[in-house]
Amino acid sequence: LSPAEQAAVLDLAAKLKAAPFDQRPLAGPRSVAMIFDKPTLRTQTSFAAGIAELGGNPMLVEGRLAGIGIRESVQDVARVLGRQAAVVVWRTFLQSDLDQMAAHAGVPVVNALTDDFHPCQVIADLLTVREHKGGLAGLTVTFLGDAACNMGSSWLLGGTTAGMHVRVSGPDGYTADAAVLARASEIGSATGGTATAVLDPVEAVTGADVVVTDTWISMGKEAEEAARVADLAPYALTTRLLAAARPDAIVLHCLPAYRGMEIAAEVLDGPQSVVWDEAENRRHAQKAVLAFLLEHAGADSSGEGS
Ligand code: NVA
Repeated sequence: LSPAEQAAVLDLAAKLKAAPFDQRPLAGPRSVAMIFDKPTLRTQTSFAAGIAELGGNPMLVEGRLAGIGIRESVQDVARVLGRQAAVVVWRTFLQSDLDQMAAHAGVPVVNALTDDFHPCQVIADLLTVREHKGGLAGLTVTFLGDAACNMGSSWLLGGTTAGMHVRVSGPDGYTADAAVLARASEIGSATGGTATAVLDPVEAVTGADVVVTDTWISMGKEAEEAARVADLAPYALTTRLLAAARPDAIVLHCLPAYRGMEIAAEVLDGPQSVVWDEAENRRHAQKAVLAFLLEHAGADSSGEGS
């Protein structure tokens, strides 16, 4: 999304939160195919409820039965789903598979999390920050922990698009993807935002308006659990570390959270945490993404590969 598109989606999300049944772009109902190749709670439920609120039919495609890339190619699945559904929502491993789906479906394809990015979560996070802080541009947000993971990357791109100062902080081996960091800086040069990798967690959190963390063991990384817990321990969001942020800082976590690991229970369940608003906002934000895509899909839905 361009900065103007992101602002339009966020405005629409706020409108849909205030009046959830006002827009019915999926009336018919038209179907939205949802495929999950990794575990899900928030993404499946918020998309299913949101699609229904938009007048549509949430069509769950069981990832294991479909066997995308195993029983048949991503391209062939895309061609089939594009004939059945108005939009495809897919959570999977490889970003390149998602790109293939988008290239061949002929309908909008939404990234519901890949190994590389989690854009729907960051749109919901931005909506949450806007609600609690009254705006986005000029605020400092710190992402702590596995800065190389999908959430770190999506915060870099989404935050700088909103004109925020995004600091990402993880130890060696868990630092931000260099290409994503460079792209975020480029985006920031047009929006007034900045993108910085900071090794020291205290320095990274100092003065922040928003502090974000995520599990240390992203889906698919379970075999690395012991090493990750040891490597990332200094980046745990404790009350002591949070004290370095602004006193009115808010705390975000996309969940699932592991109390006593990446975040202390007192922080997750404390007064600065807005994680339940954040979880609710998945629905409002994703409804806005779907409505935006359906409105702008006309030019793109004319043929495969467009
Ligand atoms: N980085 C996490 C996000 C979970 C919503 C993962 O990929 O598992």
